[in-house]
Amino acid sequence: MSHFREPYIIVALDGCDESRALNLAEQLNPQYCRLKVGKELFTRCGPQLVQRLQDKGYSIFLDLKYHDIPNTVASACLAAAELGVWMLTLHVLGGMNMMLAAREAIDGYIGQRPLLIGVTILTSHNELEIKKIGLADTAAANVTRLALMAAECGLDGVTCSAREAAQLRTACGDACCLVTPGVRPANSVVSSQGSKPDDQQRVMTPQAALAAGSNYLVIGRPITQAIDPAQALTTILEQL
Ligand code: C5P
Repeated sequence: MSHFREPYIIVALDGCDESRALNLAEQLNPQYCRLKVGKELFTRCGPQLVQRLQDKGYSIFLDLKYHDIPNTVASACLAAAELGVWMLTLHVLGGMNMMLAAREAIDGYIGQRPLLIGVTILTSHNELEIKKIGLADTAAANVTRLALMAAECGLDGVTCSAREAAQLRTACGDACCLVTPGVRPANSVVSSQGSKPDDQQRVMTPQAALAAGSNYLVIGRPITQAIDPAQALTTILEQL
């Protein structure tokens, strides 16, 4: 598992405009966390902001969840590699040809290539929706099947809830990179599970998520909406 290196915490810059994102980057420290740029922030601020965050020393998880014809996704992945991002996402449901083309494109990149992470089944999909889309079997069975398909196509890993991590670690082996959102620190106030779960239905503490086999933890609001984001991050790291 040598390529899974600290920092293991990825701070999700959701709901930020450029100045808030840069302000958070100033308060946090690239030695202790990485940053996730998603569709909203990227659509608002584009590659220039990614570059500015990288210039401050952060490695960037570009979470744009690509899903398109193989040629288009492969070109987008290459563009992300050229931008210098550390990790990016694509939908496994885009199919094997799409994933293989993505892998081939970034293999052709001269330089540090980004980690390719597959999105299996969106956690917003319930069993009924999965049936309506036309997928047989349960969500859990589909997650494992798609994670194995991602590995077969040379993706580095998948995003998953911490509750799926142990099952996926067993199915996909130690080389598979598991990236886990829905993490809430154990220390703070609001709910019986520890900190405020926001709209996350099933949360796990950072320690439990790592113990279950996650390699990187995506944490947003517990850090970004804290009065002191740096202190919130430190508290989480101390718990680890
Ligand atoms: O603020 P919070 O810690 O809930 O942020 C979690 C991040 O992980 C958000 O960017 C969210 O979009 C993302 N995510 C998630 N659940 C998934 C997949 C991604 O919360 N199943």
